[in-house]
Amino acid sequence: MEYTTLGDTGMEVSRICLGCMSFGTSDWREWVLDEEAGIELVNRALDLGINFFDTANMYSDGESERVLGKALEGQRDEAVVATKCYFQMDEDDPNSGGLSRKAIEQELENSLDRLGMDTIDLYQIHRWDDDTPIEQTMRALDDAVRRGQVRYLGASSMWAHQFAESLHTSDRLGLDRFVTMQNHYNLLYREEEREMLPLCEREGVGVIPWSPLARGYLARPHEEFDATTRGQSDSHAKNHPYFEGGGREVNERVQELAAQEGVEMAQIALAWLFSKDTVDAPIVGTTSIEHLEAAVEALDIDLSDSDVEWLEEPYEPVPVSGHD
Ligand SMILES: NC(=O)c1ccc[n+]([C@@H]2O[C@H](COP(=O)([O-])OP(=O)(O)OC[C@H]3O[C@@H](n4cnc5c(N)ncnc54)[C@H](OP(=O)(O)O)[C@@H]3O)[C@@H](O)[C@H]2O)c1
Repeated sequence: MEYTTLGDTGMEVSRICLGCMSFGTSDWREWVLDEEAGIELVNRALDLGINFFDTANMYSDGESERVLGKALEGQRDEAVVATKCYFQMDEDDPNSGGLSRKAIEQELENSLDRLGMDTIDLYQIHRWDDDTPIEQTMRALDDAVRRGQVRYLGASSMWAHQFAESLHTSDRLGLDRFVTMQNHYNLLYREEEREMLPLCEREGVGVIPWSPLARGYLARPHEEFDATTRGQSDSHAKNHPYFEGGGREVNERVQELAAQEGVEMAQIALAWLFSKDTVDAPIVGTTSIEHLEAAVEALDIDLSDSDVEWLEEPYEPVPVSGHD
């Protein structure tokens, strides 16, 4: 396994982060693994040297955190555990969502409970909250660091001007700042290259892209997207503009290069992300041990500059997607 320093934290993480949105309970989404299979996957990831795991309070309504916590029992210190808050957890309780001090403090306690841990390594805000002043959010998060409940703070999809404001606010108030950006970035969605990625680079912020395989669209020919349970039922996948702006041709070029190199399409899509200096670790989502192993093997693929250019060439700007 290759490791990298996450942004400016000094903390080492594997170049692959395992996304835990696919673990928890199939009652939440049909394609989600139940406890036993989820634990098996986390353990295989640890065997392969993956030490970085991303979950959220909302995944499987908390079950994903519980499964991850259970899988890491007795091996907690080896892992870097990231989770998130923001989305409303209880439809009857408006304070179970958002980024007010009340919501953050309660949701953090709930996450720690489910994970069965005293400390979360990376606590992230899942989205921006227009209803709470960023000063309040940053103070509540900084207090959680002072209390020892959280080691580092991170953010996820938002506009670059909002992220810049949060960094500026922390610096102005002498508070811990966000050290990572978990954003939507893959060969079929590159709008982050305009503003967010240069900002992260300038500020020493670690970048950990979500849906690096475009929720599976980069892992198989586009006409076969519906071939899997997730392909048929993942409504979010269909809402992203993956096949606007030249996406179909990008998908075909990934197929062509994969065939030429004798590797899987998913491995080419990941190798493209590994070729980007701004990216610390893509957050790979999988329910299959073979696919997890393939992701790790993709670290050995070195794309040439001309391969990268050729894969990128058909892309045209698409509507911003993933901020809501
Ligand atoms: N911050 C946010 O707003 C946000 C949003 C979305 C996701 N996330 C995070 O990002 C993680 C990954 O997201 P994602 O699941 O959408 O990501 P993804 O990695 O882009 O896509 C996962 C899909 O790719 C398929 N796949 C993986 N490897 C494959 C291979 N070698 N061959 C064929 N298919 C393959 C998986 O199928 P199999 O299950 O069959 O392997 C699965 O259907 C999540 O777990 C979560 O932690 C965060």
